[in-house]
Amino acid sequence: MDMIYRNLIRSLLFSMDAEDAHNFVINFLGKYSFFAHLFQHRFVVKDERLHVTLQGMDFPNPVGIAAGFDKSADVLHVLPSLGFGFIEIGTITPLEQVGNPRPRIFRVPEDFALINRLGFNNQGAIAVQRKLERLVSENEFPKIPVGINMGKGRNTALEDATNDYLNVFERLYPFGNYFVVNVSSPNTPNLRELQNREFLTELVLALQSKNQEVKPLFIKIAPDLTLPQIDAIIQIVIEHKVSGIIATNTTISRDGLRWDVRQEGGLSGKPLRKKASEIIRHIYRSTGGRVPIIGVGGIFSAEDAYEKLTLGANLVQVYTGFVYEGSSLIKNINLGLLRLMENDGFKNIQEVIGIKNG
Ligand SMILES: Cc1cc2nc3c(=O)[nH]c(=O)nc-3n(C[C@H](O)[C@H](O)[C@H](O)COP(=O)(O)O)c2cc1C
Repeated sequence: MDMIYRNLIRSLLFSMDAEDAHNFVINFLGKYSFFAHLFQHRFVVKDERLHVTLQGMDFPNPVGIAAGFDKSADVLHVLPSLGFGFIEIGTITPLEQVGNPRPRIFRVPEDFALINRLGFNNQGAIAVQRKLERLVSENEFPKIPVGINMGKGRNTALEDATNDYLNVFERLYPFGNYFVVNVSSPNTPNLRELQNREFLTELVLALQSKNQEVKPLFIKIAPDLTLPQIDAIIQIVIEHKVSGIIATNTTISRDGLRWDVRQEGGLSGKPLRKKASEIIRHIYRSTGGRVPIIGVGGIFSAEDAYEKLTLGANLVQVYTGFVYEGSSLIKNINLGLLRLMENDGFKNIQEVIGIKNG
C-alpha cells in the first residue's frame, strides 16, 4: 500500500494544485464513505498497549489528525477508519470565511514540507453545528475523541476576539470531547498577539467561566515564541486550569529549508520537527510533566512520534506527513510504536512519556 501511494496516488495528487488535491481527497472520502469498512480493516491497529487516557478521555492510540485537514467536519465520520486515535476539526470561526486568495498552499517536496496561507477558510460554526447534529442523529459521530479547534474571524478586532471564541465554544460545546484555543496561526493578521499574557488570560477566563472546567481546553502555540513567552503561557495554563498545550502550529521561519521559498505563510513538515520537539522538551521539563502536551510538527515515522512522546508529549498529531506518506502512515506509526516500546521494555505507550527528558 505504501508503494502504491508513493508511486501512483501521490504522483496523481502531486500533479494537481495542492489545494485542488486536498479538496479531491476530502470529496473522495466524503462520497465513498462506504469504503470505510475496507479502510478500517486495512488501517486500524487495535492493541491495548497503545491506549492512552488523558483528562478523562480514552484514546485507542496516541496518533491524531491535526487541525486544518478537516476544517468544517466534512469527513469526520470517515477519519476514524483511517486508523487515527483522535480527530481535531477546525479551525472554526463564528461566520463562514473564504480565506486568502488562491493559490495558498505550496508543496516543497525537496524538504518534505508545505507552506500554507489559507487564512481560516471554513464554513463557520452554524454550518458545522448542523453537520455535527446530523452525524449524532445518524449515529455516525466518531467513537474516538473529537477536538474542536476555534479561531477568531479575520475582521474581528483583537479587543473583540474573546466573543468570537465564546461564540464557537458555546455553539459547538455539546459535540467536542476537547476544545482548542488557536492563537497561533500565522495567516490571520495579529492573531498571534493573543498569545500575550493579557489577551490570553482574558480569553481563557471567559472560556473557563462558561466551561466550569468540565471539558478539556487546550491552547495551541506557535513554534516562533521565545522561551520566556512560552513560560508565560505555561503560567496561565497552570493558574487557570487549562488542560494542556498543543505544540506546535506552523512556523514563519524558513530554517531547515534548503533554499529560500518565497511564499508567505506557515511552514509545516520535516523542517519543523526539531523545533516543535524542543518546545515539547521545554514545556515538559519546566513543568515536571504536570501540563499535558499534544505534540505536533514534522512527524513522518514511528521514530518521529516516539521522539515526541519520549520528550514529554502525551499524544501526537500529524498533517504534512499524512500528505506525503498517505494513510498507511498512521498504521505504520502505530505498529512502529509497538516495536519501539517492546525494544525499550515498556508495556504501555503511556510509560514512555517523558522518559528521555529526565
Ligand atoms: C494546509 C494546512 C492547514 C492548516 N490549518 C490549520 C488550522 O486551521 N488550524 C490549526 O490550528 N492548525 C492548522 N494547521 C497546522 C497543523 O495543524 C499543524 O500544527 C502543523 O502543520 C504542524 O504539523 P505537521 O508538520 O505534521 O504538518 C494547518 C496545516 C496545514 C499544512
